[in-house]
Amino acid sequence: LSLGVMASGSGSNFEAIARAIKEGNLNGAVKLVIYNNPDAGVKQRAMNHGVPHRLLNHRDYASREALDQDIVEHFRQAGVEWVIMAGWMRIVTPVLLDAFSRRVLNIHPSLLPSFRGVRAVEQALAAGVKVSGCTVHYAEATVDSGPIVAQAVVPILPHDTGETLHQRIQVQEHRLFPLAIALAAQPSP
Ligand code: GRF
Repeated sequence: LSLGVMASGSGSNFEAIARAIKEGNLNGAVKLVIYNNPDAGVKQRAMNHGVPHRLLNHRDYASREALDQDIVEHFRQAGVEWVIMAGWMRIVTPVLLDAFSRRVLNIHPSLLPSFRGVRAVEQALAAGVKVSGCTVHYAEATVDSGPIVAQAVVPILPHDTGETLHQRIQVQEHRLFPLAIALAAQPSP
C-alpha cells in the first residue's frame, strides 16, 4: 500500500502508522507526509522515520481548491494510492476527493455521526454523554461524514477534562488507524 499522509499537528497518528508498518502489522509504506503548519510536530516525526515530507502552507494558496490541487500533484508524483488524513485541520474539496476517489480516509475524535467538526472532544463532554471514542471513515465533501470503516469506544470518567479525554481517545486512535487502513485498503483474501 502506498500511503500519503496529511497532518497539521503533532503527528502522533502518523507515528502510529509508521510504527505499524515497521513492526509488520501494516503492509505498506508512507511515500510522503504533507503538512500545512511550519511548526507541526509531524515534520520531526517524519524525519525520524526517514519519510519524505513536504510543507504546503495553506496561507500560500488563493483557495482551498488550489491547495488541494497541489496536494494531488505531490501525492501523484510520490506514487500515492491511499490518502490518510491524520489530523488534517483543513476542509478538503472535491479536487482531492475526486482525484483519490474512495481512497481518502479521515480520523475523528468522536463516535460519528455524533459531534462533527472542531472541538469534538469538548462537544462530547458538554453533552454529558458517558462514552465517546474515535472514528475512521472515508472522507466526503461534507466535513466528518462518509462511510465508517472502524470505531473504538472509550469511557468518559467523572473528572475528565478535554485533555484527559482526548488522551484516552488518542490511545485508541493509534491502535485503530493502522487496523482501519488495512481493513479499507487491503482486499480480503
Ligand atoms: C486526532 O485526535 C484526530 O482525531 C484529530 O486530530 C488529532 C491529531 O492528532 N482529527 P495527531 O496530530 O495525530 O497527534
